[in-house]
Amino acid sequence: MANQDKFWSPAIRDLTRYTPGEQPRLNDLIKLNTNENPYPPSPKVLETLRGEMGETLRLYPDPDADRLKEAIGRFYGVEKHQIFVGNGSDEVLAHAFQALLKHDLPILFPDITYSFYPVYCGLYGIEHTCIPLTERFDIRIDDYRRPNGGIIFPNPNAPTGCLLPLAHIKALLENNTESVVVIDEAYIDFGGESAVAAVERFPNLLVIQTLSKSRSLAGLRVGFAIGDAGLIEALERVKGSFNSYPLDRLAIAGAVAAFEDRDYFESTRLAIIRSRNQLVRELSGLGFEVLPSGANFVFARHPHRDAAELAALLRQRHIIVRHFRQPRIEQFLRITVGTDAQCRALAEALASILESPR
Ligand SMILES: Cc1ncc(COP(=O)(O)O)c(C=O)c1O
Repeated sequence: MANQDKFWSPAIRDLTRYTPGEQPRLNDLIKLNTNENPYPPSPKVLETLRGEMGETLRLYPDPDADRLKEAIGRFYGVEKHQIFVGNGSDEVLAHAFQALLKHDLPILFPDITYSFYPVYCGLYGIEHTCIPLTERFDIRIDDYRRPNGGIIFPNPNAPTGCLLPLAHIKALLENNTESVVVIDEAYIDFGGESAVAAVERFPNLLVIQTLSKSRSLAGLRVGFAIGDAGLIEALERVKGSFNSYPLDRLAIAGAVAAFEDRDYFESTRLAIIRSRNQLVRELSGLGFEVLPSGANFVFARHPHRDAAELAALLRQRHIIVRHFRQPRIEQFLRITVGTDAQCRALAEALASILESPR
């Protein structure tokens, strides 16, 4: 390939892109590396999608995805103008960085967090300051009491899984009224209390969620934000200047059906919480230190075994987990909670690895 970067816009030369978890083509893998839901989407979602596969695909979808906003509004008890929807929460986050987080002061996020945040900062030219997590990998809100252009973190945090009580988020908001606070709740349904309940009280709070995790729809790409209508309007401006139809007809119909099937949502999310608790017990029994998780994954390290080596040995046994080569967390593995059978297979593989001589 010829060297073509002389044709590139200058800003692109220095961009560092996000590295998503691997999506291998092999079928016989136990895939515990990207926090997908091990259960299929609701049968009602699949039926709806099949019904949508027809002649109407000829037509553009509703640019405002009104039906979906109504379904989300019914679920959370908020109004349509308090809701923004996008192509996965990554897109919603990207618009939030551009629309709400680019100011003169640097934005703040934890040193260990979702690794897409610094990438968006690079893309949009946003200064940021990383605030170290505590020794126990918690977010301490007092550390965020300083002038800033905005604050963003996931709750539960990723990749640690640690949950911040809603009371702490409210305390943060009480002290931080002059910039936007974005809470990325990709994993909130696995045991946390959503900050959506606080958007009426705090007009600078934006809560972002996804259907990729607790609603088993990572492949459909639907995310959304809830916040004050004035914040939503900023996101709508960016969206309307970028792509009028981020959600296609299938995504809108499938997402509405997912919100309407509350029973399936409840039963699968509770099953994952039960499996997580069991997995934590098994890993602890094998000598792992497991951080307290409010998510559909656990973050664990073994006092005597190298994490990269463990990941490689698991892979030989057709089990894939995520390992980050990053200071402070390079001895941890992030393991998605699978079905009980998958979690058992993982625990058995780890037990046999730990038993075998090195
Ligand atoms: C913290 C966090 N936020 C957002 C996302 C993006 O989710 P999606 O774009 O699938 O909605 C992820 C994905 O893993 C995540 O871990």
